[in-house]
Amino acid sequence: SGYITLDTGFKNTGATTSSITFLDGEQGILKYRGYPIEQLAEKASFIEVAYLLIYGELPTQAQIDDFQYKISHQTLLHEDMKKFFDAFPHNAHPMGQLCSLVSSLSAFSPESLNPNPTKEETNLAVIKLLAKMPTIVSWIYKGSLGAPFIYPQHKLKYVNNFMHMTFGRLTEEVIIDPVVIDALDKLLILHADHEQNCSTSTVRMVGSSGSNLYASVSAGISALWGPLHGGANQAVIEMLERIKNDGGDTEKWINKAKDKDDDFRLMGFGHRVYKNFDPRAKIIKRACDNVLEKLGINDPILEIAKKLEEAALHDPYFVERKLYPNVDFYSGIIYRALGFPTEMFTVLFALGRLPGWISQWLELRDNKEPIGRPRQIYTGETRREYVEISQRG
Ligand code: CMC
Repeated sequence: SGYITLDTGFKNTGATTSSITFLDGEQGILKYRGYPIEQLAEKASFIEVAYLLIYGELPTQAQIDDFQYKISHQTLLHEDMKKFFDAFPHNAHPMGQLCSLVSSLSAFSPESLNPNPTKEETNLAVIKLLAKMPTIVSWIYKGSLGAPFIYPQHKLKYVNNFMHMTFGRLTEEVIIDPVVIDALDKLLILHADHEQNCSTSTVRMVGSSGSNLYASVSAGISALWGPLHGGANQAVIEMLERIKNDGGDTEKWINKAKDKDDDFRLMGFGHRVYKNFDPRAKIIKRACDNVLEKLGINDPILEIAKKLEEAALHDPYFVERKLYPNVDFYSGIIYRALGFPTEMFTVLFALGRLPGWISQWLELRDNKEPIGRPRQIYTGETRREYVEISQRG
């Protein structure tokens, strides 16, 4: 079998070719299908970006209308799925619920189990997943409150519908501020894809064995949950709260992050690929100021975040290691301003990343990629003879 190259954490190993997302970590460039993230975040809507990632081109008006129509007619969940929501304790973490619920969609979509699906069957699974995920996320939130579920409405656009189900009430009409809708739309675009990150590689790995779309994406959600990946957005806010409650001494916490005997890391800082700046963080920082100002919110943890960033950017430890704020550093402050509780942040990241996972899963199938199966370098015992249990000591 020849030599095996060891690359733990896949720091320098390409697992695939891909024509979806381009990322240059030295220059801080991110493009979806060739379009710079800055242009998409400013001009496009999330659903347009989802179409772009999945089908490869920006949609015409007729194409986007058709896409939205198909999605809005798949937003309902099978009524039996409500039993799952009822079964989870109210304080169950939303990410734990999300991976189970997304996985369960395969049980309600038997056509997704066809090992050789037609193009139509595959596209139906794509549409269903895009359509049902916002309903699932909103209902997880309602379940956490013990509040009645709000059903989707066909006439509403993707993000509006999600916000309606999340913050709407049965008892009165709730008008959601367009500033809030726009801010969430932008955040979802910024999260929509990021080439072969941990959760996307997981989706591809699971998909490579022939697993269906729902099962593959459910695995991606599990990978996203960890604090080194998508879970960082929740961890950042918890860290900023801790610093605030501890008196706001940012210098003390910077020193803690630098201390190699201390496990504490500055959450929302550093990135495997970006070594100059994270272009998403730049856009998010501006959006954060803008949203808080427009909504008239004065959040003391924003000041702490800015002080931390300022101190870290001038500290040799962070400069030498090229550690900059990443996408998760300011996103939580925006989610909070929009009214989401901290535990929902990573679920919102998943909602944004969904089109990326779907397009990467489709690409893997189109490319007919082989099953993912890394090798190892064995470091255990060579050979030992079995010892009867009575003889062991
Ligand atoms: N605070 C303090 N030191 C850090 C940090 C940090 N946030 N990140 C990296 N370092 C140090 C690390 O200790 C190491 O130092 P040394 O060379 O002295 O051993 C050096 O920088 C290189 O770090 P690494 O862990 O080898 O780098 P990595 O590429 O394996 O990890 C990372 C990347 C994002 C997991 C890491 O920077 C980290 O843990 N950051 C905090 C968690 C976070 O914000 N994650 C979100 C990532 S971006 C969005 C996403 O993926 O969801």
